[in-house]
Amino acid sequence: MGCCCSRRCFEEENGSIRYRLINGRRYHNLSSSVYFLANDDEEAYRLSRYHDAIKDIWEGPFNSPVEEKLRQGARIVDIGCGSGIWILDMARQYPNSNFVGIDISPILPTEGLPSNVKFIQYNMVDGLPFEDSSFDLVHQKFMVGAFTEVQWKEKVIPELIRLVRSDGWIEILEADAILISDGTVTRRIAKAFHDFLVSKGINPSIGKEIPRIFENSNVFLEIKHQQKTIKLGKRHGESGEESLRFYVSGLNSARGTLANSMNIMPEHYDALLETMYIEAEKCSTDFIQHRICAHKI
Ligand SMILES: C[S@@+](CC[C@H](N)C(=O)[O-])C[C@H]1O[C@@H](n2cnc3c(N)ncnc32)[C@H](O)[C@@H]1O
Repeated sequence: MGCCCSRRCFEEENGSIRYRLINGRRYHNLSSSVYFLANDDEEAYRLSRYHDAIKDIWEGPFNSPVEEKLRQGARIVDIGCGSGIWILDMARQYPNSNFVGIDISPILPTEGLPSNVKFIQYNMVDGLPFEDSSFDLVHQKFMVGAFTEVQWKEKVIPELIRLVRSDGWIEILEADAILISDGTVTRRIAKAFHDFLVSKGINPSIGKEIPRIFENSNVFLEIKHQQKTIKLGKRHGESGEESLRFYVSGLNSARGTLANSMNIMPEHYDALLETMYIEAEKCSTDFIQHRICAHKI
């Protein structure tokens, strides 16, 4: 049964607590995960909405040279697939291939799925329920806040490598969690967000470290790393407008935990986020993203 009488509420189902409701947003309730963004419908909408802008910014949904394999029939996994938008788009384009989406939260779509798509609720950190070398393409996007730096190094990257078959590709699209800005409020939020992430053991810039971690594993023939700086705000066109909306609504998704950690009321936090939209039109605000494609020996 749910309640909303305090800053922290709980929803119980079948006798066990499945979600936490904090400051009006719904979160997972797994002590084994550091992930702090919401897993409600609003979050699924935020993730799906950014899909087209990402394809414009990065000139397509993927960059690894696997087009021909996908046409003929390949196996693909997307880890932390969120609303499943990437998988559903890819599955329509490549009907001969089979797609699996993994997510820790019940944010996954359940109805009307194409026959070449399966979604599984699973915690990546526990190791995924697939044999070694199961996939031609292992894809992962925007997971900077999902794992501690230690988990990235000891669990996540070894698991990505285990899952991809020889001659297959791992593709990671990652964002630096912290914006670079001249705006006073944006910088205040950035500092609070940075400190919050570091307190959880999360490296806000893990994206730029991944190529080096891959290199040290000695299992790749080739590692390609592209970095893009996306200028935020309407004055920078659709990608600037959509990226700003994605980022600030992501901070809204962290409203429960971040407002608490900044020790401010949720309404005050909302006002700071609104100011970020205004500042982005006047000050320079940059969002850095990385695309890493690695070809396994
Ligand atoms: C920022 S969202 C990105 C979703 C999707 N990749 C996209 O780009 O739209 C991160 C996703 O990772 C999932 N997640 C977080 N920790 C996870 C874990 N340990 N195992 C599997 N999924 C996880 C979250 O539930 C969330 O859906």
